[in-house]
Amino acid sequence: AVPGQLKGKQVLITAGPTYEPIDPVRFIGNRSSGKMGFALAQAAQEAGAEVILIAGPVSLPTPTGVQRVNVETAQQMLDAVTAEANHSDIFISCAAVADYSPAKVEANKIKKTTHDKLILELEPTTDIVSSVTSQPDLTLFVVGFAAETRHIADYAREKMQRKKLDMIAANQVGEGQGFAVDDNALQVFWTGGEQLLPLAPKSQLARDLMTLIIERFYAKNST
Ligand code: PMT
Repeated sequence: AVPGQLKGKQVLITAGPTYEPIDPVRFIGNRSSGKMGFALAQAAQEAGAEVILIAGPVSLPTPTGVQRVNVETAQQMLDAVTAEANHSDIFISCAAVADYSPAKVEANKIKKTTHDKLILELEPTTDIVSSVTSQPDLTLFVVGFAAETRHIADYAREKMQRKKLDMIAANQVGEGQGFAVDDNALQVFWTGGEQLLPLAPKSQLARDLMTLIIERFYAKNST
């Protein structure tokens, strides 16, 4: 991305996992470290944007010049995104949001002795990126991610359609890939095009993805 290309634009980015509490000491989480989303926040900031980074529970430093909002649960992430989406120009949903969360949060620590078998009841969380794209007067450019273990391209294209995204960046996740590691590779799809961004440090990959996003964002807004 060229410095200044996003001057006067607001970019909203989610990063990291969400933690869904089970009781006061336990939660359901995932392996996202926040590295990919934080690298994107830095790349958007370098391109001149006002960047709002909605961060799940991760221990990464905030990139210089980026405004960070810390959240823990999917519901809190949804609330933070909803508060900012209307006055953003681009939304990049890089967070690994829990798809399910415990139906009931126990007030006290669940005791091992009271259960032979412990069955947790889970209920679906709200899909954050879909809640943004389903707004009728939507003008912002929305980029989703797809974390897949197989059939990456097919699943990613299906997600792009179902979630009404302008662009989707798909990555293979699993043992030593995607989550937590420093390098990643992305297959990026948009209506009428696709590009492979080969294995590279997330910092570099974020700049390359931001270049693509800026291109498509201005293409969409010139028509
Ligand atoms: O954080 P790192 O360790 O650097 O790892 C980066 C990453 C692997 C987490 C990242 O590159 C990535 O793939 N993020 C998306 C992970 C994910 O949850 O993918 P998904 O295929 O389950 O979700 C599809 C899209 O819907 C994503 O844009 C996701 O943010 C969004 N979503 C999902 C569920 C939900 N309740 N709300 C959402 O907005």
